Amino acid sequence: MSEQQPPATLMLERDMLENFVKTYFNQKETYLALAQKYGSPLWILDASVLREKAKKFSQAFNPYFDQTSYYYAIKSNNHPEVAATLLESGFGLDVSSGIELKAAFNLNADDIIFSGPGKTDEELNLVIQHRDRVTLLLDSFGELDRLSALLSGSNLSSSVRVGIRLTTNPNGLWRKFGIVPEMLPEFWKKVKALPYINFLGLQFHSSWNLTPDRQVEFINLLGQTLSQMPQDFNSSIKFIDIGGGYWPEEGEWLHSQDTMGEPSAEGVTKSENHCHSHYRIPGTPIKVFAKTLFDAINTHLFPFVNCRICFEPGRWICHSSMHLLLSVIDKKGHDLVITDAGTNVIGWERFETDYFPVLNLSRSELSEKPCHILGSLCTPHDVFGYAYFGEDIKVGDCLMIPCQGAYTYSLGQNFIKGFPGFIKI
Ligand SMILES: Cc1ncc(COP(=O)(O)O)c(C=O)c1O
Repeated sequence: MSEQQPPATLMLERDMLENFVKTYFNQKETYLALAQKYGSPLWILDASVLREKAKKFSQAFNPYFDQTSYYYAIKSNNHPEVAATLLESGFGLDVSSGIELKAAFNLNADDIIFSGPGKTDEELNLVIQHRDRVTLLLDSFGELDRLSALLSGSNLSSSVRVGIRLTTNPNGLWRKFGIVPEMLPEFWKKVKALPYINFLGLQFHSSWNLTPDRQVEFINLLGQTLSQMPQDFNSSIKFIDIGGGYWPEEGEWLHSQDTMGEPSAEGVTKSENHCHSHYRIPGTPIKVFAKTLFDAINTHLFPFVNCRICFEPGRWICHSSMHLLLSVIDKKGHDLVITDAGTNVIGWERFETDYFPVLNLSRSELSEKPCHILGSLCTPHDVFGYAYFGEDIKVGDCLMIPCQGAYTYSLGQNFIKGFPGFIKI
């Protein structure tokens, strides 16, 4: 695929930031009561946000496509209550390991897709055993061979439903996923001859899409491939799974205009001036994704296949559903506080580069003040923020970092400190 232009970084608009902060300050009594009752630190899952996001996502795409299926990508937040809520909303589940597959079984999910590189024989056997509710998205010829070997000599009453993942970028580290589209003729020759394997579709996924450009580019390329494929291949396609990777509409919020901002211990001091200027790489409304992707699929794919379109959103669905509450355990200077949790709770040094406002729920005020908000781990990289919204900050104050639902809870580490409590509202 061609090189994309780096996205433009804008100043984060004051109105947008203040409206965001107000939304959560307006509900501060609820959050403070939860911290009082369940202690700090605490994860709060707002299930109503998940339900609303699931509805908004499917309602954006449904008007365009006759057949759709939505699968929540468990890896983005693996708390069982998240997946359970999305099952209730009519989503299936997208799993990427035997552990996630068993979690989906425990929730009685009956429409599961299993994708990801390097599946073990044990994981493949689990799929064979539960083939009535799992579709296996194969990642390679080797995986197909191993599946076939595991099935050989068996006497099953039904086949294993499979698809194949396609590589969206044959260069660099993303080439580890799937097979390149040029290999589809060879794949087809092989898979159609194998007993107990029912080939039904294609999958691709690209990550971190602030716009639909990369997805559209790959759909175009896939159309060129399908135009060369034999008729029996195209009519065997019952689904095309276009993956996840939708970035929330508000875009990516950053401390620095330099999006490659290095997490470093100096970053903490460099960021003094970050208090009042924040940056944003804009996102794209989901309705625009839906229309643009439909136009591309209708132009490039539907002339060759008549099939269901599947989606695997994770981040877009769970990002704003979960919030982190912390409290100030020590104040070491007017601009330096230590919190009762460390960033092990979110599992990575997110807040050194990403900007999320820290809200002092105990002293709410719509003005942001510089202060190092640091966790209690023995590393200077333990940063929650460089400022807080509030009139002041004192020991015992309850702080909130909203919208930490995606790729935080599931990345949490039992490192020095344990995990926060959890409550679903
Ligand atoms: C195959 C696949 N599908 C879906 C997702 C979910 O992506 P996102 O959370 O960005 O929507 C991922 C994330 O890594 C993935 O690898």
